[in-house]
Amino acid sequence: MQELLLKAREVAAAAYAPYSHFRVGAAVQDVDGRVFVGCNVENASYGLTVCAERNAIFAAVAGGAHRPLTALAVTCLDTDDGCSPCGACRQVMAEHLDPGAPIFVDGLGQFTIGQLLPHGFTLEG
Ligand code: THU
Repeated sequence: MQELLLKAREVAAAAYAPYSHFRVGAAVQDVDGRVFVGCNVENASYGLTVCAERNAIFAAVAGGAHRPLTALAVTCLDTDDGCSPCGACRQVMAEHLDPGAPIFVDGLGQFTIGQLLPHGFTLEG
């Protein structure tokens, strides 16, 4: 988890965040131990912004990660108060993370997706 956090911190420095100045980085690991990273990428049309966590998960899918993802770490370089994942990212995590996968939120602690998103959306209702 320490290695994932270091990767998340590293990629957060690459964040494109000229509007919020809130640089977020995330790293995920697959069942083979491969690591994929993502940072937030903002846009002048603010709603088009994509968060670091989703970019990391989408990079894992595009990179051929073997699912489920077994761990995720997220960090923000511009706050000491922790960076709790947004609702949209939690829903995407629920799709790709193992239910037991540790989600390490820098500054806040370690959670499972069940703790972060109880009663998330499923097609089964
Ligand atoms: N952001 C993330 O990257 N992850 C989250 O879970 C919440 C917010 C980004 C989006 C935006 O670029 C900036 O943080 C401020 O909202």
